[in-house]
Amino acid sequence: MKALIIGSGGRESALAWKLSQSSKIDKIYMAPGNAGNEHIAERVNISATDIEALISFALNNHIDITIVGPEAPLVKGIVDAFENKGLRIFGPSKQAAQLEGSKAFTKKLLLDHGIPTADGMIYDKYEDALAHISAIKRPVVIKADGLAAGKGVILADNENDAFEALKKIMVDREFGDAGNVVVIEEKLKGFEMSILALCCGTQFKLLVPSQDHKPIFEGNKGPNTGGMGAYSPVSLFNEEQLKESAGIIEKTLQALSLKGIHYKGILYAGLMVTTTGPKVLEFNVRFGDPETQAVLPRMTSDILDPILCVAEGKDLSDCHIEWTEKACVSVVAASKGYPGSYKKGYSVRGIEEARKNDDVFVFTAGCETVNGDVVTSGGRVLAVSALGQTFETAREKAYNALEMIHFTDIYYRKDIGLVHGDSKNR
Ligand code: AMP
Ligand code: GLY
Repeated sequence: MKALIIGSGGRESALAWKLSQSSKIDKIYMAPGNAGNEHIAERVNISATDIEALISFALNNHIDITIVGPEAPLVKGIVDAFENKGLRIFGPSKQAAQLEGSKAFTKKLLLDHGIPTADGMIYDKYEDALAHISAIKRPVVIKADGLAAGKGVILADNENDAFEALKKIMVDREFGDAGNVVVIEEKLKGFEMSILALCCGTQFKLLVPSQDHKPIFEGNKGPNTGGMGAYSPVSLFNEEQLKESAGIIEKTLQALSLKGIHYKGILYAGLMVTTTGPKVLEFNVRFGDPETQAVLPRMTSDILDPILCVAEGKDLSDCHIEWTEKACVSVVAASKGYPGSYKKGYSVRGIEEARKNDDVFVFTAGCETVNGDVVTSGGRVLAVSALGQTFETAREKAYNALEMIHFTDIYYRKDIGLVHGDSKNR
């Protein structure tokens, strides 16, 4: 079979690595991909959001299955467009992708169906939103409705910060039309979890739980990034909380089904585990990055079978996913300055040496090839993941392997897996 993976990050590198282990896979293409996966995949120079060009490529090259990494093409309707051409694709439809594409859609769905989430209100008029903030006088979270490259969520501890955030979104329109509508919600306290589920209609199977570390600095301080590392399993997260999280996925799929939306693909619930149980902070309609780099190394069964099962809309109870008990820790190496500005073009050394370690995986992300040399080309350059019998051994292996990798301006957090919860939220 021929597979096409859409996207260019570490998540897509992890998907390509896992897919390459399937005996049924003959060839993997990545569009546009990144440097560092040449041994398993061929890169195609098409952007992840150029749906027409991706369809032509898939038709001309007889692609059997396409897997979509990032949210932008999903929200744009890539799945509907591929399926209209008879192409098999893994991911939710445009309608279903609203769960990530519109925070107002999601908040309304959750509140209407009594699914645990922060109390919140939706506003499409600046004056009304302003009046609400003036009235409540509590820390709030203000969210631009649409996609804003992860920057449209602002935590405001006081009224002034809240006014400023609202102005930024609705008056200055820093996120463009994504800020036409805002969600204003209560600020929750607790620790965050990433629960990914493979879904087909109202059927689902949970992948193993993981935790991301979004802030740039150790101790979960500083501005949020796309994610600086992840690990799985998470000892802090108990069976009861896992059961409640499964209930959240189940009720969400049922609520969508009542609207005539059949969810296919990965549903990722970003949860705040509070003293009264897990509550939804957000949904993503795709694999997480860097959660995928910490979750897929733990999957011992073939990934292609469940993906085909969902893409073909088959009964999920016939599909099996198996996991190792081993722990996985994944540490992101970034360019100094990220998530602000940073320099690019530095040679990356040591990837091959690091990969020689048992149970160590290097998933490249912001890497490009220039004159045959792999150089840095992005904020998050790569992730090193390691499996270990215990969390401590996995951590040690990941950090030891990371020390074998060198590039100018390398920066990584040394505390992945050691801090739980956001210091700002405690
Ligand atoms: P989101 O994109 O909605 O997940 O928000 C990004 C980050 O903002 C989350 O990972 C949390 O750290 C934080 N956040 C979002 N909503 C809330 C909330 N209601 N209470 C506390 N923190 C939140
Ligand atoms: N790790 C956060 C995300 O994938 O959105």
